[in-house]
Order: sequence, then C-alpha cells, then structure tokens
Amino acid sequence: MSASSITPRDRLIVALDLPSVSEARAMVEALGDTVSFYKIGLELTYGGGLSLARELSAQGKKIFLDLKLHDIPNTVARATAQVAELGANLLTIHAYPQTMKAAQSALKGGPLRLLAVTVMTSYDDSDLANAGYAFGVKDLVRRRAEQARQAGIDGLILSAEEVQELRAQLGPQMLLVTPGIRPAGSDIGDQKRVMTPAQAIKAGADHLVIGRPVTQAADPRAAASAIVKEIEGAVA
Ligand code: C5P
Repeated sequence: MSASSITPRDRLIVALDLPSVSEARAMVEALGDTVSFYKIGLELTYGGGLSLARELSAQGKKIFLDLKLHDIPNTVARATAQVAELGANLLTIHAYPQTMKAAQSALKGGPLRLLAVTVMTSYDDSDLANAGYAFGVKDLVRRRAEQARQAGIDGLILSAEEVQELRAQLGPQMLLVTPGIRPAGSDIGDQKRVMTPAQAIKAGADHLVIGRPVTQAADPRAAASAIVKEIEGAVA
C-alpha cells in the first residue's frame, strides 16, 4: 500500500481511549461504516483491549496497537510476532536501533507495519538532558527518524508540527502518522499545538489519530464523517 493510495476513510484513525471494552465496542458500533481504523492504547489494552483488537480485525476493521514496545531484542521480536498474529495493522515501538531491528525481523509478510516513536512529545530539551541524552529534541527526532529508515521501519508517529520537515527529510515512502489534530472550532483539551485535519494532510501526514473530537462529540458518527470529508478535500 503506497501512501498516496490510502482512502480518505482509512486516513482517519479513531483513538479508542475509553476505560472498558464494552464502551469501546459501543463506540465502534455507533461509528459503523464511517470509521475503518481504530487505535487501541495502553489503557484499553490492559483492560481487555487485545481481544477487542482481534474481534475488530475479524470484522474487517484496521487496528493500530499503540504499545510503544521497548525491551531486549529477543523479547521485542517475540512480542511483535504475537501482535502480528492478532491481525493488527500498525504497532508502535520506541526508535532505538536494537528495538527497531528486532521488531522488523519479526515481520513475516502479513499486514502489520511498524511505527517508530522518535521522542515523546512530553519531553523537552531539558528533560532529555536530565535523562542523559546529548541531543535536544529536534536533533534527536531527526537522528532517530534516519535510524528508523535505515532499519527498514515503515513509518513514524510524530507531532503534527514535525510532519512537514520530516516529510522533506524522509521522502514519500515513510508513513507519517500524527495525533494532536483538532477540526476547526473543536475543544483542544490538553493538546498544546494542534492542526486541523486539512492542515496536517497538506503538511504530508498519511494518517491522523483523533480521539476526543470524535468519541466525546454529541454525534460521533457525524463528527467522524465531517473529518473524513475534510480529509477528502485536502488530498484532492
Ligand atoms: O483525544 P485526542 O485526539 O487528543 O487523542 C489523541 C491520541 O493520540 C491519544 O490516544 C493520545 O494518547 C495519542 N497521542 C498524542 N500525542 C502524542 C502521542 C500520542 O496525543 N504525542
């Protein structure tokens, strides 16, 4: 699947940041055919989300497991193989060269693609210095993005404001997936720097991860449908 062939509907990934599988399942039912791609993160994973992932995948939905793997290579490879077995389409791993190579080595030609997390967006330069890193955020993101490419990783998860520069650095092949998206006029919540769906797509993003603007909307289906339309307009 080349990035340009992704349908507008598949570009929207709805984050199922909900406390229970039953609430997540009800949200998926309410969204119906409007949404084809879901992200399951740590909260829901530890609350039974892996069986939901298997269930949704069997229904033909695409699944992004945001598990941010990082461990010794043998463990990362074996965990990645288990995620592939679930039928997931995207999995996050931390962008350490050993971790990326190990996860990549466990892919056996199924639909699973890997997304590297370069630097967590909650970190600033002083947090990195405090943790013992010699690089600031910008340089470390660039360095790790290049290492991800060298390791054969399919894509990166990154903040919307990094998309344009990394698209220029990495070229068209790398999948760029970004959270921090807010349709014009919606509540930004705890996000600090946001872009609209159209802005992020025009900056070069392939997929947008959007949670509360859909899941907390009075009419989630209408909210998702409006976002897909906005994406459609931006890719045209
Ligand atoms: O509700 P909202 O649209 O802000 O949700 C964004 C999703 O993307 C959440 O699941 C959040 O954990 C995730 N995310 C993020 N910022 C990052 C990395 C992940 O918002 N830097």
